[in-house]
Formats: sequence, C-alpha cells, structure tokens
Amino acid sequence: MIEQDSLLQEAAAVLRSGKLVAFPTETVYGLGADAANAEALALLYKVKGRPTRHPCIVHLSSLSDLSQWCETVPESALKLGSLFWPGPLTLVLRKAPHVLPELTGGQDTVAVRVPAHKTALALISAFGSGIAAPSANRFGHLSPTSAEHVRAEFGDDVEIVLDGGQCQVGIESTIVDLSTAQPRILRPGMITSEKIFAALSELGLTEVQGKQVDAPRVPGALASHYAPSTPLLLVDSAKLKTVCTKLKQEGEKIALLSISQATLPVESQLSISNNPEIFAHTIYGYLRQLDCSGASVIVVEKPPDSSPWRGINDRLQRAAGQSDTNSEDQDGC
Ligand code: TXA
Ligand code: MG
Repeated sequence: MIEQDSLLQEAAAVLRSGKLVAFPTETVYGLGADAANAEALALLYKVKGRPTRHPCIVHLSSLSDLSQWCETVPESALKLGSLFWPGPLTLVLRKAPHVLPELTGGQDTVAVRVPAHKTALALISAFGSGIAAPSANRFGHLSPTSAEHVRAEFGDDVEIVLDGGQCQVGIESTIVDLSTAQPRILRPGMITSEKIFAALSELGLTEVQGKQVDAPRVPGALASHYAPSTPLLLVDSAKLKTVCTKLKQEGEKIALLSISQATLPVESQLSISNNPEIFAHTIYGYLRQLDCSGASVIVVEKPPDSSPWRGINDRLQRAAGQSDTNSEDQDGC
C-alpha cells in the first residue's frame, strides 16, 4: 500500500534531498520536485526535457497555504479555491517575492493547485511545503494516467513512482488566470468555464472576451503537445467512413478510436464512451494503446463541440497538431 507512512516519508526525504518523486493526482500523474529549491527545479526541467521558460504548477495541501506563494490572496481565489479545491483547478496569481524565477519561468505570476488525490495530499503534507509538478511525461508527450505510464516514460530517471492507480479525471486541470483584474481561462478542463464564471459572477467578475493586452505570457501554447508518436487525425463522425476508406486505399494502417459503433475498414478499433467524464478518464490510456498498435495513423472520432467537451477537444486538437485559435490556453507540456 502506497499510503504506508514509511514510503511517504521516504518520498518526502527524496524531495528534501533535491531529487524527484512521481505521484498520482486526480487529473494525471505529476513529476514532483521541491518548489523552493532551484537545483531540484533544474533537475526537474532536465529530466522532463522541458524548456526552462515553461513554468510549473505548485501543489499545496490546502487553500490556507496559498498565502505563502502569492503576493495577496484575491477574493476570487478564495471563492474558487473553497468551491473547487481539492480538485482539478489551477489558479494563476501574482507571486510572492521569494517565489523562485526557476519555478515561474521568470514571470511574476505563480500557478497553484490543491489536488484531490489522497496520496498527493499525504505526500505534500509529509513533505511540508509546496511541490512543483508538471505532468510526468517527457516534453510534448501524452500525460500519464497510471504509474506504469510514468515508469515506461522515465525508467530509472525518477527515484520513486508512487502508485495511486488510474487517475480519475484523466486530463489536466483547468487553468484560470486571476493575476489581472479580468479572470481568464488559460487551459480548459473538466471544470468548465461556465462553472468558474457562475462562481465569479457572484463577485461581479465576468469572462473576458478576446485577447488581453496585459495577459501573462503563455509559454506552453504550442499546437503539437499531448501528442502520440503516430500521426493523429481528428475526424467528424459524418466523414469517418469516407476518410478511413481513402486512407486504406492509400495503404495506411489505421487505428481507430470511435464513439459510434460503425464497422469501418481499419486494422484495429477501440470504442470510447460518449460520456465526457468517462471519455476524459480513458482517453490518454487509449491513445497510448493505439500508439503501440503498429498503425501508421490514429483516427479519432471528434466528440461534440459542447461545453463539457471543451477540455477534451483542446487536448485532442493538440494531439492532432492543430491549435484552437479561439482559446489562448496553455499546453500541458
Ligand atoms: O492537472 C494538472 O494541471 C497536472 C497535474 C500534475 O497537476 N499538471 C500539469 O502541469 O498539467 P504541466 O506543467 O504539464 O502544465 C501546466 C501548465 C503549463 O502549460 C504551464 O505553462 C502553465 O501551466 N503555467 C504554469 N505556471 C504558470 C504561470 N505562472 N502563468 C501561466 N501559466 C502557467
Ligand atoms: Mg504537461
């Protein structure tokens, strides 16, 4: 049992010594380092293969720890934190002076969240301070949703991988920027913008439309993240048959992930739920499976465009190397 105190104490000691621990969260697995140790952060960026200008999220064990990391705690952060934490929500706030530039990519803001996984919370408590953790994948790859995914990605490069089973949510947290007067969604996720702004409207705050002049730099906004190594095509349900038939004629080996049950001329096929929560929970595991199937192309049936699917569609578009130009979200590199 990973909750065993001795393993958690060992993991906390590894973090204190400036080394890395991978741990489960409810969204995806994180690759953790001491958020207040510049050398540990340098190691984290090196192992992940991530450019140092891409900031990391600090994971805390409770809302009450927020004030240690940001300049001031705005009412909007208290509101969203008390409603959605622990949970799949990250808040970007103006950083406290002592917060390291190595953590924030040199920006004057810091991203924080309280994850809803008992192992993550127990690890943060045992460590006693904030844990910087990007998703536990090499830069540009799919986020891991099981301990096996993390081990396959990093082997011995990570001291300890805490196994907390399959992540319940399955895609990365919603990121909300509260560092300026106008809140903004930087990365859509399973907590929808409607839910966020329903809460913020009680404080008289509304969603900003279009690009903001004083918006924070979005270092991870690359179109081609969350990508399997096999090329991926995102195809509308109505065009699925035509596209697969054409690809087949061109000699492609197709691995299909479909929501509808149609039988199509493909090498392998997996069916995925039309329920957005279940879809999110399973999508990265299925993409990894299809990536290993020997196919020359992965075809994914495009989910609906409605609000509950926004975070999922964002990740699928990035996996396909397409950028959603309307959302100024971040990648989860
Ligand atoms: O669900 C999640 O958010 C997972 C789990 C492990 O917590 N973490 C995750 O981390 O997805 P990562 O590093 O893969 O993605 C975090 C995103 C990056 O695109 C990064 O640029 C953005 O958050 N970010 C971090 N700090 C920021 C800041 N100060 N301002 C704007 N964006 C920031
Ligand atoms: Mg990531």
